[in-house]
Amino acid sequence: MEIPPALHMNKGDGENSYAKNSQVQRMIISKGKTMLEEAVEQMLSCSSMIPEVMEIADLGCSSGPNTLTVISEIINVIHATCRNRGRPSPELRISLNDLPTNDFNYIFASQLPSFYKELEVKGSCFVSGIAGSFYGRLFPRKCLHFVHSSSSLHWLSQVPASLESNEVVNKGKLYISKSSPECVLEAYSVQFQKDFSTFLKSRSEELVHGGRMFLSFMGRRCSDPTTEESCYQWELLAQALMTMAREGIIEKEKIDSLNVPYYAPSIKELKLEIEKEGSFVINEVEALEIDWDGGSNHNEEFIQRGERVANTIRAVVESMLESHFGEHIMDELFERYAQLVGDYLSNNSTKYINFLLSLVRNHI
Ligand SMILES: C[S@@+](CC[C@H](N)C(=O)[O-])C[C@H]1O[C@@H](n2cnc3c(N)ncnc32)[C@H](O)[C@@H]1O
Repeated sequence: MEIPPALHMNKGDGENSYAKNSQVQRMIISKGKTMLEEAVEQMLSCSSMIPEVMEIADLGCSSGPNTLTVISEIINVIHATCRNRGRPSPELRISLNDLPTNDFNYIFASQLPSFYKELEVKGSCFVSGIAGSFYGRLFPRKCLHFVHSSSSLHWLSQVPASLESNEVVNKGKLYISKSSPECVLEAYSVQFQKDFSTFLKSRSEELVHGGRMFLSFMGRRCSDPTTEESCYQWELLAQALMTMAREGIIEKEKIDSLNVPYYAPSIKELKLEIEKEGSFVINEVEALEIDWDGGSNHNEEFIQRGERVANTIRAVVESMLESHFGEHIMDELFERYAQLVGDYLSNNSTKYINFLLSLVRNHI
């Protein structure tokens, strides 16, 4: 099954939009800036890699301030490196990719005009949108020089099929949890292997030899996928839903029948898939710890931190939950979730683990 069409970040720039609630993802981008810049510089340091036209893709671009921030960073490094080496800057073709349900109109109508205005070298950069799944080919063969993707590859192409057809196996949960049977853990891991290897294979065909990818996405440090750093944000969301089921606001069976198409892999799983697929060499990999609320103000009351976490998660998963449970429960659900997260953070300092991965397309 394809990714449910309901998976899209909250559109526009309203109170619950992804544009207004993506500070955690912005923090990840800012912590990865140095490694991203190094990857672009290294790509350019091979002189044959400065063609007249350079093609760059951002996969899972979403819509909001983060979308063009990353692109600006990449462009700035290219211009600075070319300037330092006395070479003319290449013309840049920038492709912004996301699923067809993404709010591309917001990017092109509200963000792109000021982006073009602020460009250092005017008229040398051409941005277009590419709607489609990155779990498959998106571009012609050997046309891309650089691929970026942040906070997107933890989304699987589908809920593992064995869980979709079996509502009793992961009862009362949305994702892997301490109480999930081994077959649930296995089903998620197998789906990740299949998806990540399809992703690598597709990009290996699209990238020129020596081309680079810089990826960041959720992961885990330990092999056990049931630790709190791997899955507890989902556990608390399931708990919020279960309190509503106990009060008769939603049916418990509805919770049993929902699993999310998400997976936080271990570094070992990642390396294994990269080696198996064989088209990429790992240049660098790093694991970052990220506060659930982006870490902006630790003096805040826990309930406010809980609200910020709930707003961030809501902007990402609301479309999926709304299509399953209905719009009418969303405010109540995320209020309960904020409360549970606030209580949890008052006794725990669990963080997200985010991988930064810099890869080179090998010459084979
Ligand atoms: C949390 S947003 C990240 C947006 C942006 N890169 C950032 O760092 O703020 C994840 C994005 O990945 C997109 N996405 C998920 N699965 C995808 C797929 N198979 N193909 C393309 N985009 C996908 C989602 O639609 C969403 O816009």
